[in-house]
Amino acid sequence: MTRRGRQTLVADRPTRRAVRGVADPVALGLSDGTELGVRSAVGDDLPGVVDLHERCSARSRNRRYHGGSARPAPARMRRLLEPARGVTLLATPTVSHSPTAPVVAMANLLGEGDTAEVALLVRDDWQRRGLGSALLRRLVWQAERCGYAALGLHIQAENTPMLRAVDRLERPATTDRDGSLLTLTVPLTAAVSPTRAPLALSAIMR
Ligand SMILES: CC(C)(COP(=O)(O)OP(=O)(O)OC[C@H]1O[C@@H](n2cnc3c(N)ncnc32)[C@H](O)[C@@H]1OP(=O)(O)O)[C@@H](O)C(=O)NCCC(=O)NCCS
Repeated sequence: MTRRGRQTLVADRPTRRAVRGVADPVALGLSDGTELGVRSAVGDDLPGVVDLHERCSARSRNRRYHGGSARPAPARMRRLLEPARGVTLLATPTVSHSPTAPVVAMANLLGEGDTAEVALLVRDDWQRRGLGSALLRRLVWQAERCGYAALGLHIQAENTPMLRAVDRLERPATTDRDGSLLTLTVPLTAAVSPTRAPLALSAIMR
């Protein structure tokens, strides 16, 4: 079994139907045995999310926001925490609903018409442990549940970790390139077909 296969949602049993803006809290188990809580963000999470951004490297912030390495202004972060359409998930190292628990990752799903725009930020010292991939799968699940037709992702062409995380979804994707920025569209209703290749990561990275 692969590392991804071993990674399990250990308490993935929603107690009520998710609606836009709210996701049921779950416990997420990483392959190294670490357990995290994943829940919807609320406005009170602003200090924790500011701290997340401050503890991320300039490169991580730049890859997330594509425009310099500064963290977004508090007003924008507040909008990210409670989007009008979509949901923001936060990961904390323990299963906790307390806004004082440190936030180690943020996953955004923003509804734009039929498309759910997706973006991730994992704290540098938590990267490369499977958390980003697990959160991305969680957003796919959430977007499908909310009835979106596709995921949209804006990824810098050099951002190998994010491209690999998308590749790991093993879903067909279309890619548009504008300079160094890639826009990936992942249809959510299409079944994975063996006749349609998943994202051709190797071609993009050449
Ligand atoms: C992209 C990001 C979310 C990935 O999160 P993560 O928790 O490190 O992801 P995972 O551990 O699930 O790894 C995903 C893949 O990237 C690879 N990867 C992770 N870090 C890597 C690194 N520094 N160098 C090369 N590959 C890396 C992993 O090996 C894995 O690939 P594999 O499954 O083929 O082995 C995280 O790096 C991040 O927050 N980056 C800054 C913000 C950003 O780029 N956001 C995306 C904008 S949409």
